[in-house]
Amino acid sequence: MANEKQPQEQDLMEKIVSLAKRRGFIYPSSEIYGGINGFWDYGPLGVELKRNLKDAWWQDIVRCPPTGPDGLPVEMAGLDCSIIMNPKVWEASGHVVNFNDPLVDCKQCRARFRADKVFSVKAAVGEDVLVLVGAEADSADQARAAATAAANSKTRRRLEEKADRIEWVIFRADLAPEGQSTPCPLCGGQLTDARKFNMMFKTFVGAMEDSSAMAYLRPETAQGIFANYKNVLDTTRVGVPFGIAQIGKAFRNEINPRNFTFRSREFEQMEIEFFCHPSEADKWYTFWRDTRYQWYIKHGLKSSKLRLRDHEPSELAHYARACADVEYEFPFGIAELEGVANRTDFDLKSHQAAAGRDMTYYNDETKERFLPYVIEPSGGCDRATLAFLCEAYSEDEAPDEKGVMQKRIVLRFHPRLAPIKVAVFPLVKKDGMPEKARALLDKLRPHMAAFYDEKGAVGRRYRRQDEAGTPFCVTVDGQTMQDGSVTIRERDSMQQVRIPMDGVLAHVQERLA
Ligand code: GAP
Repeated sequence: MANEKQPQEQDLMEKIVSLAKRRGFIYPSSEIYGGINGFWDYGPLGVELKRNLKDAWWQDIVRCPPTGPDGLPVEMAGLDCSIIMNPKVWEASGHVVNFNDPLVDCKQCRARFRADKVFSVKAAVGEDVLVLVGAEADSADQARAAATAAANSKTRRRLEEKADRIEWVIFRADLAPEGQSTPCPLCGGQLTDARKFNMMFKTFVGAMEDSSAMAYLRPETAQGIFANYKNVLDTTRVGVPFGIAQIGKAFRNEINPRNFTFRSREFEQMEIEFFCHPSEADKWYTFWRDTRYQWYIKHGLKSSKLRLRDHEPSELAHYARACADVEYEFPFGIAELEGVANRTDFDLKSHQAAAGRDMTYYNDETKERFLPYVIEPSGGCDRATLAFLCEAYSEDEAPDEKGVMQKRIVLRFHPRLAPIKVAVFPLVKKDGMPEKARALLDKLRPHMAAFYDEKGAVGRRYRRQDEAGTPFCVTVDGQTMQDGSVTIRERDSMQQVRIPMDGVLAHVQERLA
């Protein structure tokens, strides 16, 4: 068994970003031109990882839905809507008026920040001000920690010495008390008052570039589902309670994209809108909240880093009756992977009023007509992919060919998510071994993502696959040429067993299931 040694959290993110680039998981978008902030490309391994994640979600939600609270499989339908829709959708949904982030600018260096992510941090003992800085953070605690970490050694020593007497005054830039401002986190200059910034990307449809031709890139996939709710009801056999699921791109002109892919301007969502009778909404909310939380655990986010957090009533949107976040402790802090909300009949009611279409549902059995309530589990593919990458990353030591212990980076992905399931190597590039190995590859490829490598020492080839998260490596060697057996090495334990070459497919399939 490998000798575990987890890296320090602070440089873990740097290591993950570097591995992601080096091994072709994630690249900065249009990097040859210096990149573009908030946009990312998935390389050959990354696209497989993200696709496996989306396929697993689609399979577990749409094709083989979970068993509901009544013991029957949940009814689900899939959908793939256009990214650009009639702009009236976004007026009805409230996005045109309300999809805003508060924005502040530095009057001195012109840097721009999300006002709810910048804090003024002051530490003073009476008139003696030890610290007065601006800090970018998600919470007051994080801001205080960031300000302390950024202080010079003399100030840090004073903070420690006077710890009992220090008064900390910390406030968010958009909630600054009258007459007080927040220093710029970059240059210390003064920040402007907060103003609203709508995050929807605008574009023009057709040849005219005037307001009549303006449209939006969707900031969420959910509204396409509401707009098609009647279509799905009328063209399929589903009836309330049922859900519509969609995976697709969403675009938000985030003021400050950051933390690698976590907050991007173009990203993918996996969303379910589940329509139910208002009297059953609490039951379905609890069901979906717990089911979605368990899904992440099942796929490897097992550690104490995953949590389910119910929102306080004060955090709820005005239309929501309940909301919970599935959160993960990334190296940069605890943050949301997926939100599950009881959105009541807010969306259907809004579209009913704006479009003038009847959105009610008639139950033939109970003879009741009603507007369904909606439970919405809404997750991000990119955030989930990043969480699985962070969770999978580990460092340990493994012996090389000469038995000397060497550092090993290994991505311990759940086999369902692993980009490559099995790699096949000939021990050497001669004596008929490459031909045998390629024949095995041809047998495996129709069933799973398989990879062939004949370059370099076999130990190095194992290590490259460990870094890619490949659960199994098969080696064709001299003994294969005599008795048709191969070695199969397991990524996590690094244990090797010898099995007949004909049995490799079944052996791997059994362990991937
Ligand atoms: N329809 C509800 C909705 O869109 P949201 O909390 O704004 O809710 C849902 O977004 C999920 O989409 C989030 O939990 C997150 O995983 C993902 N997401 C939101 N903004 C994102 C961004 N800028 N970059 C990456 N993922 C994002």
